[in-house]
Amino acid sequence: MTTQGFDTLAIHAGAAPDPTTGARATPIYQTTSFAFQDAQHAADLFALKAFGNIYTRIMNPTQGVLEAKLAALEGGSAALATGSGHAAQLLVFHTLMQPGDEFIAARQLYGGSINQFAHSFKSFGWHVVWADAEDPSSFEKALSPRTKAIFIESIANPGGRITDIQAIAAVAKKAGVPLIVDNTLATPYLVQPFKHGANVVVHSLTKFIGGHGNSMGGALIDGGNFDWSASGAYPLLSEPNPSYNGIKLHEAFGPMALAIAARVLGLRDLGPSIAPFNAFLLLTGMETLGLRMQRHCDNALAVAQWLAKDARVAWVNYAGLADHPHHALQKKYSPKGAGAVFTFGLKGGHEAGVKTVSSVKLLSHLANVGDTRSLIIHPASTTHSQLTPEQLKQAGATPDVVRLSIGIEDVADIIADLDQAMG
Ligand SMILES: Cc1ncc(COP(=O)(O)O)c(C=O)c1O
Repeated sequence: MTTQGFDTLAIHAGAAPDPTTGARATPIYQTTSFAFQDAQHAADLFALKAFGNIYTRIMNPTQGVLEAKLAALEGGSAALATGSGHAAQLLVFHTLMQPGDEFIAARQLYGGSINQFAHSFKSFGWHVVWADAEDPSSFEKALSPRTKAIFIESIANPGGRITDIQAIAAVAKKAGVPLIVDNTLATPYLVQPFKHGANVVVHSLTKFIGGHGNSMGGALIDGGNFDWSASGAYPLLSEPNPSYNGIKLHEAFGPMALAIAARVLGLRDLGPSIAPFNAFLLLTGMETLGLRMQRHCDNALAVAQWLAKDARVAWVNYAGLADHPHHALQKKYSPKGAGAVFTFGLKGGHEAGVKTVSSVKLLSHLANVGDTRSLIIHPASTTHSQLTPEQLKQAGATPDVVRLSIGIEDVADIIADLDQAMG
């Protein structure tokens, strides 16, 4: 069978009429637990000798359709859905890291990820070492014998910068560590990191994937392309597991080992599962992902072009503009568009930016991206407020910066609202 197109997969992958009722839309399996066929079936499920539903903290059929669809769209071997994007990041690192281990992350990340990595992960004994996404050689320089992974965003929040995934994947490959890519702002419609050498993809489904600003969710997608047993550095995957009768997860589950380990160890023991109702809403959103992303990108380009010509605007940072330093990278990695999240600054600096976010009427002033609605925020005093001045600079969130997430409304109305808000 030929490979199906993106929009076909977004609608059909992982989903089929319900075998019992014929329901065409994926039902919400709103249940905590699932009846066993008999005692042997129960014992086999618990020992990972059979695969099936036990308890919704670990697995649920609505969540399962979401996972199959995400794996198909990203081109991965398996996926695991979680209660939020941060939960997905926690489960990936929980599977790969031991106390005392290090990982390298780009400085240009969503502020919440910078906080999670720099502060909360410390209490697990996991240490982040920062590198510069603009300079792939800085990742090589940051390597140490304790490095277990490299983490980047494909399109970075808030700056909308495009990362040279292939160059950083080459560093990871040479070092024998996996490259983890947060593909939240791009979605697989724009960028498919596995095609460029990534080994794990993570998502905040809360954003464009769900797309309607109504549900939290996250996911990790296993590329199935990393040898977890080669170095002995990933004992949770390569060594006998005492909580499953000595099973070696990589040996038993091959290319799906990371996704399975994150489920049967991370989700089982740490517990950040997704609610079936949220999985259902995210699935509904995903069916129109291609249509929405294209409209988001087209609208964002039109708004960026309008801002770039406006006398009140000091600068616009949108990789879709022909004179942006990342325009060539955008054409290479994200040719259908540069996404919908970008930043700009007004000649009136911080004060004018704060006045603009307070004066919008159609746009919503809030802390999210990837909604059908256009959104605006001042990152330095909100999403990135815990960062030092140096971190703010490196993350592209200095006090003059205003971040936009352009929605799918009529673009003339978005521009008219910004025009009146900029005063
Ligand atoms: C790029 C990126 N990654 C991860 C996250 C965290 O996702 P969540 O809020 O679903 O935990 C966010 C949230 O804004 C984000 O923008």
